[in-house]
Formats: sequence, structure tokens, C-alpha cells
Amino acid sequence: MTDFEGQVAVVTGGAGALGRCTARRLAELGATVALLDVADPSAAVEETGAGFGAVADLCDEAQVDGAIGEVLSRYGRVDVLVNNAGLHVGVDRVPFWEIGAATWDRVVESNVRSAFLCAKAVASPMRDARRGRIVNLSSDTAVFGMANFLHYVTAKAAIVGMTRALARELGPSGVAVNAVAPGAVQTPDVLAALGPDGWDEVVGGQCLTEPITSEDIAQAICYLCGPGARIVSGQTLLVNGGANMGAF
Ligand SMILES: NC(=O)c1ccc[n+]([C@@H]2O[C@H](COP(=O)([O-])OP(=O)(O)OC[C@H]3O[C@@H](n4cnc5c(N)ncnc54)[C@H](O)[C@@H]3O)[C@@H](O)[C@H]2O)c1
Repeated sequence: MTDFEGQVAVVTGGAGALGRCTARRLAELGATVALLDVADPSAAVEETGAGFGAVADLCDEAQVDGAIGEVLSRYGRVDVLVNNAGLHVGVDRVPFWEIGAATWDRVVESNVRSAFLCAKAVASPMRDARRGRIVNLSSDTAVFGMANFLHYVTAKAAIVGMTRALARELGPSGVAVNAVAPGAVQTPDVLAALGPDGWDEVVGGQCLTEPITSEDIAQAICYLCGPGARIVSGQTLLVNGGANMGAF
């Protein structure tokens, strides 16, 4: 029997790099996986062995409720929620005084509001079942305080607080809530954004000077959702090669 046999996992941002990899890993470990994304996730469904995919803007409460409702009517349960959706690819890295208010809202909402709405949508079925695992994607930039990315860093720091507060509210119902805070992951988009010199600098700043892969992040998420983390909640796990060892 595999770790997630008989379980249903929802992965948001499932059309993207880390979402796909996480979905594949959860499916390999026996979960029935549903991918939700504002971009069409059908190729990702095919590639990862997920059972279902839906297009939804997860900043819109009606669309979140519709998509989670569809998962519940198909499968009758949600055991795992991975709040992975969020804008960072293509977001301009500029001094904070040049960030427009609309861009601020888009970046913060896609990362924070989406996680809030998805957690809210699964709270009732998880509380009724008296079990569940939620993993939110933060970033180690929330510890570094990276320059020229204030909207994103602020959003990812908010995810840490949200994780702790959700863990307090849902823990008594048997639901654990944790976060994973990756360093820069070797995905095509991140490589392009950092350029070869930027990438070498990032990896050189880690204790373990191997590139961080999508698979490393998927493994950490699966650990936090799996039986080995039975009594772990409210934590933010830095998966960044030891680049910093901040106050999470
Ligand atoms: N890649 C990294 O180096 C890295 C590092 C730290 C944290 N993270 C976090 O991990 C997560 C995944 O990163 P990734 O590299 O796979 O990014 P990605 O851009 O490949 O995937 C993110 C997905 O989220 C979706 N999305 C964005 N806004 C949405 C919305 N409103 N509704 C529904 N879907 C929406 C996008 O369409 C995209 O498919 C993000 O939260 C990111 O901030 C990534």
C-alpha cells in the first residue's frame, strides 16, 4: 500500500512547473489528483496521471467553490490541498516605488487570496472527515528579504502567518497545515529570470551546492502530507540547500 492510496489531492497551479511535479509524485504514491489552474491544465493532467483538471481563477470565490465542488461531487472527499498557485514568473523585479498598485494586488492576491479561498473551500469537508493535510507554498525570499520583489516577498511572508493561524484553527479537527519555502528551483522560467550568472550566484550561496529541483520540492510536500509528518503542523520547511537558516 502506498502513502496516498484512496486519498484525493487537490493541487492548485497544477499547470505550472512545481504543481505538475507534485501532482506526478502524489499520483505515483496512490492519490487521485485534481489540478486547478487559471491556465488550461489538460496537458498536465495527461502528463502526470492526475484524474481531473479544471480551469479556475482561484482569486474568484465562486470559481474556487465551483472547482472544489466538482472535485467533491466526483470523488466525495478532499484529503490533501496543495496551495501552490501564484504569480512569480514574468513579474517585473523593480524597486518597490515603481510597483503599481494594480500589479501589487495581482501578485499578492494570486499568492495569498487564492490560498485563503481554497483553504476555506476544503475546510468543511476536512473538518467533517476529521482529517486533512494542507501545504502552502511560501518562499525563502521571505527570510532573505530579497530586493526589488516587494509584492512577492510580502505575499510569501503572509503565507507563513496564514499557515500558523490555519494550523491553530484546523488542528483540533485533525487537519494539519504546513508550508514549504523553496529557494530558487531549477525550472526553465527561473533559469531564464536569473540568467546564468544569477543562477550560479544563487546555487553558490547554498550550503549544499547542488541545484534545487522541482522533485526536491515535490518530495518535501509529499512528506508534509504523508504519514511521516503525522504530528507536524504550523511549520514552514525551508527547502533551499541551507542558503539561509532563518527564523521560520
Ligand atoms: N520556482 C521557484 O523557484 C519557486 C521558489 C519559491 C517558491 N515558489 C512558489 O512555488 C509555486 C509554484 O511555482 P512554479 O515555479 O511552479 O510557478 P509556475 O508559474 O510554473 O506555476 C504557477 C501556476 O500558478 C497558476 N496561477 C497563478 N495565478 C493563478 C490564479 N489566480 N488562479 C489559478 N492559478 C493561478 C499559473 O497559471 C501557473 O500555472 C508558486 O507559488 C511560487 O511562488 C517557486
